[in-house]
Amino acid sequence: MNILPELKSRFRVVLSELVDDPTELLGMIRPAQDAKFGDYQANVAMPLGKTLGKPPREIATEIVSKLDVSDICEPPEIAGPGFINLRLKDDWLVFRLNHAVGDQRLGVAADNEPRTYVLDYSSPNVAKPMHVGHIRSTVIGDSLSRTLRFLGHQVISDNHLGDWGTQFGMIIYGFKHFVDRNAYETAPVPELSRLYKLVNQLVEYHNAKAKLPTLESELAARTEAVATQRSQPATGDKAADKKAKKELGKLEAKVTEAAETLAATRAKLAAVEKDSKLSELADQHPNIASDVLEETAKLHRGDEENRRLWDEFLPKCREEIQKLYDRIDVKFDFEYGESFYHDRLAGVVEEFEKHGLARESEGAICVFMDGFDAPMIIRKKDGAFLYATTDLATIQFRIQQWKPDAILYVVDHRQGEHFEKFFAAAKLCGYPDVELCHVSFGTVLGDDGKPFKTRSGDTVGLEALLDEAVQRAYSVVSQNDDTKPNGPELGEAERRRVADAVGLGAIKYADLSHNRTSDYVFSYDKMLALTGNTATYLQYSYARVNGIFSKGSIDIAKLRADGTSIQIVEPAERALALELLRFSDALADVVEDYRPNQLTNYLFQLTKVFFSFYEQCPVLKAEADQTRNSRLLLCDLTARTIRQGLNLLGINVIDRM
Ligand code: ARG
Repeated sequence: MNILPELKSRFRVVLSELVDDPTELLGMIRPAQDAKFGDYQANVAMPLGKTLGKPPREIATEIVSKLDVSDICEPPEIAGPGFINLRLKDDWLVFRLNHAVGDQRLGVAADNEPRTYVLDYSSPNVAKPMHVGHIRSTVIGDSLSRTLRFLGHQVISDNHLGDWGTQFGMIIYGFKHFVDRNAYETAPVPELSRLYKLVNQLVEYHNAKAKLPTLESELAARTEAVATQRSQPATGDKAADKKAKKELGKLEAKVTEAAETLAATRAKLAAVEKDSKLSELADQHPNIASDVLEETAKLHRGDEENRRLWDEFLPKCREEIQKLYDRIDVKFDFEYGESFYHDRLAGVVEEFEKHGLARESEGAICVFMDGFDAPMIIRKKDGAFLYATTDLATIQFRIQQWKPDAILYVVDHRQGEHFEKFFAAAKLCGYPDVELCHVSFGTVLGDDGKPFKTRSGDTVGLEALLDEAVQRAYSVVSQNDDTKPNGPELGEAERRRVADAVGLGAIKYADLSHNRTSDYVFSYDKMLALTGNTATYLQYSYARVNGIFSKGSIDIAKLRADGTSIQIVEPAERALALELLRFSDALADVVEDYRPNQLTNYLFQLTKVFFSFYEQCPVLKAEADQTRNSRLLLCDLTARTIRQGLNLLGINVIDRM
């Protein structure tokens, strides 16, 4: 039984007599902000007062008189204008905890209305090296997948690999013109990566060169606009002058923006020009941008050579990505990828046209939808299909194949507009009952508040990022071990193992503990801190609880099986008991809005409540055996909850560190 859903279902019975659909009201039953108001608080009477035109306190009294919670709560209290305060009975807490002690699932019930979810996450473009942005999609998606499964839902995870796009045109072009055969024989993927980067750089060079005059005149025009605005004499009229000043500010910001774009463009040009080899290549390949598109188009048309190269490259690229997934312990049920849908794209466009949902506009086939300025293009003028066309073919396949209740796309927030349009178009095809959700996330930033890059301005490769986190974790772990009062406890091999769990855990947790919609600043120091809301702190706390058992030579599994009962006497014991039982609420919160940070917040809070219990209530030195055993079981439940919670985040615990 999960507390909050149980309370809600009790309230539902009463509220259904007052309104047609109490669902929204039920959302106003929440954990109390302050323990002096009890454990939970229902703020339903105030909004009901408005709808029913009665004083809220009167409504609260009526609700309480009909509410049947006497088996779970002390008699509800009404406070202030009509808050209903609920305090769980100690007996009930004890009963639930004792159940959790003997339960693998820690007393968390599976959802009694299981749904089928398709989860689309990670989904990197395979020929490009993976970078820090990919970790967010991978880690958030993996954690949602684990949590939904734990709650009894059916999850189908499908890695929608970008294995068919322009990046292949780039490496094919690169391979035909620039390959270093030796390097390719020894280590194919790094060579393909190099080719990708090289071709991309040359394409961008020529694009930048073409754009330069426009950018320069734009900056000049904007600078002039500022000068004109500045030269306006003050009118003496306060409001008008203020307006003029504001206008000037706006114009100046536009100058800054244009100057930054121009500087970035010039930097791109300079990077090539200062390198004699690169600049020679750039001169030799003036049409590289369109040639790359042509290579991609040839691949899609079934050109024999390009197809052969693609068949050769793809398994190598996938293998490389797989190594990374293995390292961070992420699995998928399927990896269909974009190429799988290629043969279906023409059919999708045809169907849209046949049903009058798409029509030609300036040579392209477009879906026009209400509420959008621009249509969604599903076939370009030159006959090429787009990312959106593939997504439409994919959703059709997924719905036929798996009949999901929901499809979640864990993708960068910059693709927000794509998903809005794509969902609207999907609804047009008549998939009204499937929940479609863009689980979007913000950008990973560097110290400077700009997207996280290496010093040389490259995006940071994922492999290097993980290596550095593990290496730094090794220092943290060693330092902690070296300064233990009775000397170090860990051997070299164990230190390495611990460092691996700590380093990878730190990266994952940093990502998951930030509200996914916000950007966050990437900092090794912060994420590896031994105190605060970090995986390191939780792993360390877990190890400390284990330390209690080894110090007291406690066979905790035996104690668990003994039928020893937990008892609640001290307020700190009660606080811990309640926090432990809130695990299920936290998981419900994660699923509600697909936010794993609800779970990290919970685990951090649980750990704090645990340490305050541990400070106030002696465990091994408790006077009575029964108290000692009860407290040991509270420690055990805490450790198990941390372990299970971290597991749902894809993070491992360590027994000692
Ligand atoms: N490959 C895409 C990218 O790296 C992400 C794909 C997301 N999934 C989807 N069904 N569109 O930007």
